[in-house]
Formats: sequence, C-alpha cells, structure tokens
Amino acid sequence: MTRYKLNDPELTRRRFINMAMGTTATVGVVSLLGTLGGAHPVFRLTEDKKPPMEGDILVHADEAKEGVPITMADLSDTQVTAWPMGTDADGNQIIRKGEPNNLLALYKFASGELGGEANVEAAIDGQVVAYSDICTHAGCPVPDAKDGTGMFCPCHSGQYDPKQGGIVVGGPPPHKLAQLPIVADGDNIKVAGFFLTHPYPYTEDASWEAAKEAAKGA
Ligand code: FES
Repeated sequence: MTRYKLNDPELTRRRFINMAMGTTATVGVVSLLGTLGGAHPVFRLTEDKKPPMEGDILVHADEAKEGVPITMADLSDTQVTAWPMGTDADGNQIIRKGEPNNLLALYKFASGELGGEANVEAAIDGQVVAYSDICTHAGCPVPDAKDGTGMFCPCHSGQYDPKQGGIVVGGPPPHKLAQLPIVADGDNIKVAGFFLTHPYPYTEDASWEAAKEAAKGA
C-alpha cells in the first residue's frame, strides 16, 4: 500500500502542495514572532518606560507635587511615593512613569531601625530606603497600613515590613518587595543601581537579569 502511495502522482502532487503550504505557514509564524519580538517592550524601551536607572533623581509621585525632587527633609517613617526621573538623549528631563510598575516607596527610619533583609549599604546612612511599591502578588500599589503596621496591599491583603527589607509578613505575595539602591546627592536622592532582587512584574531573577541588560542597551 505504501509503495502505491509513494508512486501515485496525484498523492505526490498533494504532498508537495501540503509541504509548500506548511512551509509558507511556518515562514508566516516565524515572521510574526519576529515582528512581535521586535515590538516587545523590553526591547523597545522609551526613556519614560525604562526601569529606574543609575543616576536618576527621585521625584514625588503624589499628584500635588509630582515631578518635584524629593529631599531628605520630606522623608520619615511614613511612606513617600516616588518616580525615577532621568534624561533623554537631548538632555530633557523624563519622569519614568510611562511604566506604572516604576512606582517607588521611600522611608526614613531612625538609626538602627532598618534591618532584617534590608541591604543597609544600599540605603542612605543606613536609614533612608527605597523599594518597588508594586505588590509582588498581582501588581497593585502598596500604601502604608492605616494602623501603622508596615505596608498593606488593598487588593488581597498582602502585608510587607519596610523596616525588615520589604519582607512579606502576611497574605499571598510570593516574595518581598525589591529594594532599590540609592545615594544622597546634595539634598536630592539618586538611584545607585538596579533593584537588588526582581521587582514585579518579573517572576524570576533570570527574567529580571534579561530586562536589565535590555534596559542598558535600549
Ligand atoms: S496584589 Fe497585593 S496582595 Fe494581591
């Protein structure tokens, strides 16, 4: 039976057509993936969508003061939200809020209060610390708890402790908030490097490492 099929000119013609169609479809899929890959945000980051970059100044995210540089005097153990602000190729200042996941939370704790899993070397004077303010569970912004017990995510009751490095102390978040290294620059606060662990929406260190490389080359 097989021998007849192989020798049947009609079947051979059909097989050729099927192969040609399959090849066309494969080329189409590869081409589409190439187009999607080229359009992937990681590989086409505009300045406003880049993650916080070394040298960025932190500015207020609060609507009433948005874009105003945050000073040390603005900070306390109550959360201040911030955006990173960088410059484009022409030297124009760009607030990186085109990526909502760039929202940050800043705190200044009394000397000796910051500890646990916090990297005190990446905090100013071991007291001023910056975290991603985006919940690692499903991406909601995380304000302070109303009762003063750390940070509380209103979406599914996730709880974090900013004094202990943003560790999870309640609810469903899978991992701690990512700490962003910062340094003082006069009265301003500057970003000193990438997040120390992967922030939301990155689901693993490897994907965050790839995003960092893409941001450097973007
Ligand atoms: S998004 Fe924060 S706990 Fe679910």
